[in-house]
Amino acid sequence: MEIVSRIAALRERLAGHTQTAFVPTMGNLHEGHLELVRIARRHGRPVVVSIFVNPLQFGPQEDFATYPRTFDEDCAKLRALDVDVVFAPEIDEMYPVPQGFLVEPPRLGQILEGEFRPGFFRGVATVVLKLFNIVQPCWAVFGKKDYQQLLVVREMVRQFNLPIEIIAGETVRAPDGLALSSRNGYLSPAERAEAPRLYATLRWLAQALAEGERDFRGLERRAQESLDKAGWRVDYVALQQRTSLEPAQAGERELVALAAARLGNTRLIDNVEITLP
Ligand code: PAJ
Repeated sequence: MEIVSRIAALRERLAGHTQTAFVPTMGNLHEGHLELVRIARRHGRPVVVSIFVNPLQFGPQEDFATYPRTFDEDCAKLRALDVDVVFAPEIDEMYPVPQGFLVEPPRLGQILEGEFRPGFFRGVATVVLKLFNIVQPCWAVFGKKDYQQLLVVREMVRQFNLPIEIIAGETVRAPDGLALSSRNGYLSPAERAEAPRLYATLRWLAQALAEGERDFRGLERRAQESLDKAGWRVDYVALQQRTSLEPAQAGERELVALAAARLGNTRLIDNVEITLP
């Protein structure tokens, strides 16, 4: 496995390859990331994984400085999966001058996460476009854990005519249901015990729909209230149409319930896809 930190060196290593499969990450790798790597491995070679904590997607009050950095452990995990190349640039390599050209997402990136994290998807879209231009993959794999991010990237690829197929990986969870996330490491033991309630609440909502409940906004409200009562600070619980991420309307069947909420200082997100009969 080669570890490359320079763009020029990466381009040289990948020159002539047309079947590159790519997994962009910010490191601190867990089984969710590794599952994406296994998916990439089934699609093409070489497999390239990037590790770059992208300052452009963090707000001024967010955790850029404290985001967990575990490069050596990450590389050991990737080596075990037979990854070909790890691309781990320094900030100056990715942003040698202030990034003046920015990818501004449409409404899809301004609602939900975009509303509570202004500039987040601009930062994500901009760095992902840069990484795509550097790696020039045939396939790129993203997790459904970050459902809106997956859709924003898909739409960017479509609107900019990038010759890249975006593959979605299912959310990998702990045995108690909590979606794996680098930010779970911020949780205290008591918060970690409480954290599975986020997914449990989304499953409760999905179950109510399966049993025939159709008051979408009422379900959102009740889900939010039960999290409030358990001490969460909820940004949103939203039952949306699965591709536009607009609020689900009567008669629509392909839905996704998304939630973002804070336990103490840790903000967690999760989602569940729901198909109505
Ligand atoms: P990061 O949070 O490191 O996530 C990298 C990829 O792993 C994303 O596609 C994310 O959806 C996926 N992922 C995270 N947890 C997962 C889980 N439990 N199950 C399945 N997939 C999971 O997302 C980013 O980094 C950044 O925004 C990035 C796209 C790299 C741009 O900077």
